[in-house]
Amino acid sequence: MFFSRISAIATQLPSEEIPNSYFGSYLDTSDQWIAQRTGIQSRFWLKKNESVLDITVPVLAQLIEKSGRPDSVIVATCSADKVLPSLAHRVASACEIDGLHFDVNAACSGFLVALAQARALIGAGMVSRVAVIGADAMSKLIDHNDRATAVLFGDGAGGLMLERAQQDVFLSTCFDSKVAFCDILMDQGRIHEGVKPVIQMQGQEVYRLAVGALSRSVLQSLHLANKAIEDVDFVFAHQANDRILQSVAKNLGIDDQIFYKTVNCYGNTSAASIPLGLAHAHENNRLKNQDILVLTAIGAGMAWGSMVLKWEEI
Ligand code: UT7
Repeated sequence: MFFSRISAIATQLPSEEIPNSYFGSYLDTSDQWIAQRTGIQSRFWLKKNESVLDITVPVLAQLIEKSGRPDSVIVATCSADKVLPSLAHRVASACEIDGLHFDVNAACSGFLVALAQARALIGAGMVSRVAVIGADAMSKLIDHNDRATAVLFGDGAGGLMLERAQQDVFLSTCFDSKVAFCDILMDQGRIHEGVKPVIQMQGQEVYRLAVGALSRSVLQSLHLANKAIEDVDFVFAHQANDRILQSVAKNLGIDDQIFYKTVNCYGNTSAASIPLGLAHAHENNRLKNQDILVLTAIGAGMAWGSMVLKWEEI
């Protein structure tokens, strides 16, 4: 059994920032509605001729520059522009890395699933350095004329390099799902029938499930790590709606300041939201050695999970 540590972190956002006011120009919505109901103020979108590949390659390139060449690349995504080969293989190809590469599609909880996979591969001795990337281009999956979903999502990519270590950075991991709720967040369309996938969401159902599942999952991961909520320095939760985070904080009996929030500037970036948050905190010197962090996410499936880790300076 081998252990894992984080040796580098990197992100890439598209160049085009879309403020809430953009939607008011063609939809029956307003900056005020979006900001009050979601906490979102702006998000970044890829241009028409760009794809998620364009923001994922720079993340892998930065991770390699900071930490060396990996023997595996795992990309969590639900918005790859091609089905074959995997986004992980195409990104690895751009950086000329051979090895064990694959995509994980667990929607917004995908980054945590990918991280757990990377840790397991290192633990089993199959690989010694893995680039784990969450990358999504949600702007390509939304109906831009549907105000209920178009305003919520953003594009982005972020990743960590995980490598073999003497001590484990991870203290616990737990995942679960309620597959009976598969259809409350599902794209409409079938690729094999030539229909473009477009996200449709029963917002209030997802909201209710998210608050309960995230609250329970955070507590379960802390229990498995033998930690109490009072021991936690930051929770990096999937960023879908600030009100969800406030409700989870209330359930946990804590101040919502414990949640490191980026939803205001990035929107919901699906699998990218946790690494984007971690990188934002790291760049702003908010993370201290030995901080106890909880990572938690929920998304289509409906699937969720949490991980507790002890941060080490990188
Ligand atoms: O990443 C996966 C996880 N995803 C999530 O966690 C998302 C969870 N859901 C949510 O965050 C919220 O349910 C939404 C932000 C999607 C919606 O907020 P809400 O407070 O639940 O609003 P609602 O769906 O109850 O809609 C309230 C009203 C409706 O109008 P009526 O029926 O009351 O006349 C909507 O049609 O707000 C209307 N509405 C809007 N109005 C202005 C919906 N979207 C908009 C909009 N601008 N963009």
